[in-house]
Amino acid sequence: MTLKPMVRNNICINAHPTGCRAEVRLQTGRVKAFRDRLTNSGKNGHGTPRPAHALVIGCSMGYGLASRLVAAFGYGAGTVGFSYEKEPSATKPATPGWYFNEEFDALATEAGLFARTFSGIDAFSNAAKNKAIEIAREQGFQYDLIIYSLASPVRTDPDNGTLYRSVIKPIGRQYAGRTLDVFTGKIAEATVQPATEEEIAQTIKVMGGEDWQMWIDALDNAGVLGRDAITLAYSYIGPSFSWPIYRDGTIGQAKLHLEKTSRALNERYHATEGLRAFVSINKAVVTRASAVIPVIPLYISTLFKVMKERNIHEDCVDQMIRLFSERLYRKGETQIPTDAEGRVRIDDLEMGSSVQNEVSSRLAMVDEANLYKLADPDGFKSDFLRAHGFGVPGVDYEQEVLSLE
Ligand SMILES: NC(=O)c1ccc[n+]([C@@H]2O[C@H](COP(=O)([O-])OP(=O)(O)OC[C@H]3O[C@@H](n4cnc5c(N)ncnc54)[C@H](O)[C@@H]3O)[C@@H](O)[C@H]2O)c1
Repeated sequence: MTLKPMVRNNICINAHPTGCRAEVRLQTGRVKAFRDRLTNSGKNGHGTPRPAHALVIGCSMGYGLASRLVAAFGYGAGTVGFSYEKEPSATKPATPGWYFNEEFDALATEAGLFARTFSGIDAFSNAAKNKAIEIAREQGFQYDLIIYSLASPVRTDPDNGTLYRSVIKPIGRQYAGRTLDVFTGKIAEATVQPATEEEIAQTIKVMGGEDWQMWIDALDNAGVLGRDAITLAYSYIGPSFSWPIYRDGTIGQAKLHLEKTSRALNERYHATEGLRAFVSINKAVVTRASAVIPVIPLYISTLFKVMKERNIHEDCVDQMIRLFSERLYRKGETQIPTDAEGRVRIDDLEMGSSVQNEVSSRLAMVDEANLYKLADPDGFKSDFLRAHGFGVPGVDYEQEVLSLE
């Protein structure tokens, strides 16, 4: 059989095994080229701090996968990764992250790097934490970098079994905004009703910092949290017109809780263990998570066009390369630069006033007739398809897929 993408309303329900594997190889190649540039520039030598053992929670896609690639192939770290992906059946491909994980493992083994990957253990569970601890003890290492990069619609509380659901809704009043179907070029008005108190509380339970804190507590209790470790959770701020649905909405409340958790982790562990906890504010990119938020596909398509015109476009890999090399691990530096709130910022190029002014004036004018002139829906579409293994350069999609494994 041959496989074509099956997409509805910016959701793709299948993945291409060969394409996913090729995509990870291409991303790995870019990370290795970065490592070589860094070494040649003398910035990766003696006196450059580096992660030795990284734990990546949410490792299979998007920012988590890019973080893991940079830790492993950029800095030579051994990595342990957790993700929640569906395995293939005889008739249905797996979810893309399943294949990304498999290829990551193959490439890490080839490069002689330690890697253990879990594609189907719920990261919110105690079982996942115990597994991470067991591996560190077995191998005799401690984690010195812990990346928290989950995007999930649900969380089961490991203590009492309660299932919480996260929603992306405004708070206090209804939100109306334009949304773009990048596959048809159609722009439609989307309205979202405000969240109830219960929905806000549940979203904080899923996407806030409670589980992040549980991970760090578990690692510390088990003695596998390294001295002077760094832990990061990812967040987004974005332009003010998106705040009613994002920053000031349910998800924003959860992200504020992450920031509160980073302060709590620093208070609890910095003096004794040297731990540094940060929320890193990353740029808007196309991932499974971002494609379904109203207004975001139109905003990202416009942002891409503007940033590409200015040669400052970045995807997940570019962002993580910059996070590691220009923020976390700088030669001769132990300080990690942050904003006044203590957050690491790598959304600086997106949020620069010149880029933002241009994007918002284009958004005020954009319609279906001038969409391709003012915005880059094809760039969005291409990144989205590649996140499912479709449209990856060098892959022959007319070739029969012989196995979905
Ligand atoms: N996409 C963006 O534009 C953007 C921008 C800034 C910050 N962020 C943040 O980055 C983080 C990651 O987002 P992303 O866009 O890379 O998402 P993604 O959907 O690409 O990846 C999410 C990861 O979480 C894993 N996951 C989900 N539920 C899990 C569970 N129960 N157990 C184990 N693993 C589970 C998935 O398997 C996957 O590896 C989020 O906190 C998000 O808010 C995203």
